[in-house]
Amino acid sequence: MKAVTISLFGFLLVIAAAIISFCDGNSKVLCIGSEGQALLTFKQDLIDRSNRLSSWVEGEDCCEWHGVFCNSLTGHVKELHLGLLSTSPDAYAPAAEWDAYFRSKLGGKINPSLVDLKHLSFLDLSNNEFGGLAIPEFIGSMKSLTYLNLSWANFVGAIPHNLGNLSKLHYLDLGINSLFEAQTLQWVSGLSSLQYLGLSLANLSKATDWLQATHNLPSLVELHLSGCSLNNGPSPISVNYTSLAVLDLSQNMLSSVTWIFNLRSLVSIDLSSSGVEGMIPSGFQNMSSLKFLDLSWNSFSSSSTLNWLSDLNQLQFLSLNSVGLQGNFQVP
Ligand SMILES: *[C@@H]1O[C@H](CO)[C@@H](O)[C@H](O)[C@H]1NC(C)=O
Ligand SMILES: *[C@@H]1O[C@H](CO)[C@@H](O)[C@H](O)[C@H]1NC(C)=O
Ligand SMILES: *[C@@H]1O[C@H](CO)[C@@H](O)[C@H](O)[C@H]1NC(C)=O
Ligand SMILES: *[C@@H]1O[C@H](CO)[C@@H](O)[C@H](O)[C@H]1NC(C)=O
Ligand SMILES: *[C@@H]1O[C@H](CO)[C@@H](O)[C@H](O)[C@H]1NC(C)=O
Repeated sequence: MKAVTISLFGFLLVIAAAIISFCDGNSKVLCIGSEGQALLTFKQDLIDRSNRLSSWVEGEDCCEWHGVFCNSLTGHVKELHLGLLSTSPDAYAPAAEWDAYFRSKLGGKINPSLVDLKHLSFLDLSNNEFGGLAIPEFIGSMKSLTYLNLSWANFVGAIPHNLGNLSKLHYLDLGINSLFEAQTLQWVSGLSSLQYLGLSLANLSKATDWLQATHNLPSLVELHLSGCSLNNGPSPISVNYTSLAVLDLSQNMLSSVTWIFNLRSLVSIDLSSSGVEGMIPSGFQNMSSLKFLDLSWNSFSSSSTLNWLSDLNQLQFLSLNSVGLQGNFQVP
């Protein structure tokens, strides 16, 4: 019995020692060799004029490299933050400032070695300059991604439908590129964890099922479809966005938006320049959570009333600029 107690005590000591050495900063897990190699291969195909990736050097711990984040227990690369964070200089900034800004964008090609990062959950390549590259098909096989941001990066061409295989995605932002969708957004409908979908400026004129494909996503909170050449699909449906809070449909050709009025959870609606015609619908009246409402640049009937505004007591922003209203309005 005593021997058992002693050996149990010894066992506990070993565990305690293991835990202590584990928590000790010196025994930090290092980058996994094959993943460091995959990153170096990825770097080889990139154009990095401002040397943002100068810390990416063979033989060094890749978990310390710029933009690379590893899991602190396993050492696997879990996040790649390579979006350019600085925003563009203002229009009147000196040419040298603009030049420095453009030089700091990554370009070149995206090497498929990224697929070897089997535990990568976060990939941000936004605000770079991929000079007309198509979105690589292999990204659709990076099954552990929960965040994918390829926006503002000059990708062109068709959106690969196999992105619909990324079933863990919470954020998918492909906005502000020159993409098009030739047929259907049906591939989105399987992304059941999606909270954010950004496809602004993608040409969706042929994807007339965009509403059917997105409205049953149970977790969707933000939908950004600005400038997508959207026109109302052939059959208006009753929509079922259960958690949608932010809806941006600006710069489209929608004509009628009555389906929006069932969406009582909406906090922000941007319908500017969206081709809506007729009376300003009083359906907004029941959207009591609304804080932001932009209806500017549409052709509403000049006899529209604004009485419904008095029920929107959360409203913080309202634009009715150039909507064709005439006369004096009393904003309640
Ligand atoms: C994606 O990146 C852009 C530009 O860096 C940023 O403005 C946007 O908020 C990001 N999208 C998401 C969903 O985080
Ligand atoms: C991935 O998506 C493509 C195209 O949508 C599909 O044909 C393929 O079967 C999918 N693969 C897996 C493993 O789900
Ligand atoms: C969108 O694509 C359609 C053809 O699919 C084309 O007719 C239209 O001009 C495009 N819209 C824009 C804004 O490029
Ligand atoms: C709407 O969503 C809820 C919750 O996800 C679901 O129970 C219901 O069946 C959906 N209704 C339609 C018409 O799709
Ligand atoms: C607003 O909601 C009330 C009560 O639910 C309903 O009777 C009315 O028709 C709604 N108004 C509009 C314009 O949808």
